Parts: sequence; structure tokens; C-alpha cells
Amino acid sequence: MGLLLPLALCTLALCWGAVSLPQQALGPSPLLSRGCNDSDVLAVSGFALQDINRDRKDGYVLSLNRVSNAWEHRQDGLGSLFYLTLDVLETDCHVLSKKAWKDCGLRFLHESVYGQCKVMVYTNMPHRVLYSPAYNCTLRPVSHRKIVDMCPDCPGPRPTDSSDPRVLEAATESLAKYNSESTSKQYSLLKITRASSQWVVGPSYFVEYLVKESPCTKSQAGSCSLRSSDSEPIGLCTGSLVQRDLEKFVSVTCDFFETQAPAPGGEKSAVNKGRVNIPEVQEAQGEHTSLTVSPYKSGPRGSVQYLPDLDSEKPKNSQEKGPQEAFPVQLDLTTDPQGETLDVSFLFLGPMEEKLVVLPFPREEQRSAECPGPAQEASALVLPP
Ligand SMILES: *[C@@H]1O[C@H](CO)[C@@H](O)[C@H](O)[C@H]1NC(C)=O
Ligand SMILES: *[C@@H]1O[C@H](CO)[C@@H](O)[C@H](O)[C@H]1NC(C)=O
Repeated sequence: MGLLLPLALCTLALCWGAVSLPQQALGPSPLLSRGCNDSDVLAVSGFALQDINRDRKDGYVLSLNRVSNAWEHRQDGLGSLFYLTLDVLETDCHVLSKKAWKDCGLRFLHESVYGQCKVMVYTNMPHRVLYSPAYNCTLRPVSHRKIVDMCPDCPGPRPTDSSDPRVLEAATESLAKYNSESTSKQYSLLKITRASSQWVVGPSYFVEYLVKESPCTKSQAGSCSLRSSDSEPIGLCTGSLVQRDLEKFVSVTCDFFETQAPAPGGEKSAVNKGRVNIPEVQEAQGEHTSLTVSPYKSGPRGSVQYLPDLDSEKPKNSQEKGPQEAFPVQLDLTTDPQGETLDVSFLFLGPMEEKLVVLPFPREEQRSAECPGPAQEASALVLPP
């Protein structure tokens, strides 16, 4: 590990300790510590998050709150591999909407879900390549206890278990309202993605859910018993059910995803799956349609782990959790301090073989003086410790 310590960050104690290690003889670390507010680091981080969002199949689009740590490993004439730690916030867009995180809205503070992602990003500007070989994220809802401490008189909706029958009722009733107002197409409930409840004038339930197109049209209602084999989610609906005595107030809005029908360049999107192109050169990438995607990146390149509210699982008298424990994110393609090679030839045209050197992910304690960078949402409630 001593090998990875850049001298600039080396405290006296650590350096004395490191000197005696045999690894010291291997030479200085190839990792450069980067500023978390540097414009290129911010640009690469933004693309990385877009790449993560594209790779995911469920959950909400993550937006960049701040860059928490940044390292760059310049690869011999082959661009750079960045090791980034990003503090993120969930937005109100579902990942299946394929919307860019910058186009999505943030949630209210009391409904926030926040966390940290670690991601490796390979950049090769001359070849217009930006690609994330691996990522992992951990998210938690904002601490309900801290929200109440901050504002005891404004209890917002509390997250509620989607298996609560009243949550299901809110989804069913709001979708029924949507269907009754729809002129022809009908939709059915696929999956509840978010639920909360609050006492307003009576018990009130707020839900978000994925819908699919129902095989029945409105005119067939009742007589239609076709079972749809196609259960692709096609939109996200937001509904509420507010009760006062015997009265019910139902609201609903639905947002349909842009159709992902395979366009003439269908295979192109398969190739692009593994890469994020710099937008202005996207058109110029047409020639890449002949590329084949190697098996390495056809599987998911990472995962997003959801943990409970930090305060909900903590016994009252225990210590505050350290950063490692609060948002544990593991991302190691190798444990060899010398690194391993990673074949990225598929990102390039032509027969050449291109290999990167991948190192173990730098530890959190190694952080440049210019990190973390400024946050979009600076409340300590949504910043990992
Ligand atoms: C990503 O995290 C999961 C656990 O959440 C772990 O099993 C996996 O090994 C991690 N991926 C990498 C590349 O470290
Ligand atoms: C981050 O960079 C921007 C633009 O370069 C600058 O205006 C801003 O003051 C910087 N913020 C911090 C906290 O360094």
C-alpha cells in the first residue's frame, strides 16, 4: 500500500512508516491526485454518472452533488484512467426514462436519497473515448430523525413500505383515474418504486410506480381478458390518495418514457452501450457500427446498493459511524498493488490491441487538499460523512 501513497499527501508519520516497507523500492505511485473542482474532473465525473445511469435497469437517475475524491492514472500514450468517488443524489426520473441527470429534478430535502459512488473512468480524448469499466454505489434515505430535529413542526411524508395495502390502494386508485381519463389506451401497474405517507386532513399516501401498456383498449373494458406477454415498463406514474372521513381525493400524473424502438442503426446502440461519447462527436461515431462488443462489458458493470436510514439502524448509544461504514462502496478490479491489465481494444477502431493498467482503488484516506469539491446541495443531511 505504501507504494500508492503520493508523497504530497504523505504525513510525517506515514512516511516514516512507509520507508521501511520493501515496496518503497518500486518507485513513486503512478497515481496523480486531482482537484475535485477542476473542470476536466467535473466533466469526466458528469459523464461517468451518465454512464452509470445508462447501465442501470431499475431505480432513479442519480445526479452529481459533488466530487469527493479524484485520482488520475496517466496511461502510456493511451489516455487516462480516473478513480473517482462521487457524492450523489437521487432525482425524480426513473433510469428507464433514459433522461440525462442534468434534466431531472431533485427531491425535497426531507425526501432525499443520497450516497456515494466509486467509478473508474477511462478517457482518451484524441480517440473521443469515455468509458466506465466498473462502478458501485451505496445509497441511503435522508435521516428522518435529523429532519424532525431540524423542523419538528413540519413532518413531511415518511417513507412507507410498498407492501402496505394502502400503498397498493393508492397506486390502483390513481391508475384507475388515469385510465378513466385516457381516451383509448389503458395501462396496468407493474411495480411500485416509491411510497410515502403523511397525515394531512386524514391518512394520505403518495406513490410512484411503473406502468405497462394494457392489451385492452377502453372500448373492450370488461370483456378483455387477454394476457399481455409484453411487460416492458413504459412510464412512471405519480399518484396520491388523500382520505378525509369518507371522502377520497385522488391525483395522478404519468410520464411516459421515450420509445426505445430499435432505429435503423439498432446495432449501433448496442455498441454504444458500453461507452459515453462526447456529445458533439456523437454523429461522427457512425463508423463504429462495425465494432463488436466483447463479452466483458455485456454484463452489468456495477451495482447500486440501498441501505436503510443511517439513524434507523443505529442503537442510541453507539458511536457515529465512520465514513467507510456509513456508505461502504467496494470497487476493486484487482488487489495486486502492481496492477493488472484491462483490455479495452473494443473501444477502438482497427485491429490494434489496447490495454490499460488498472490498480486497486485508492483508499479514502488519500485525499487531495482540493477535495471534496463544492456541493450543489450543501446540506450536511445529504452529504456522506
Ligand atoms: C461491487 O459491490 C458488490 C457488493 O455490493 C461486490 O460484490 C462487488 O465485488 C463490487 N465490485 C467490484 C468490482 O469491486
Ligand atoms: C470551483 O471552480 C469554479 C470555476 O472554476 C470557481 O468559480 C469556484 O469558486 C470554485 N469553487 C471552489 C469552492 O473552489
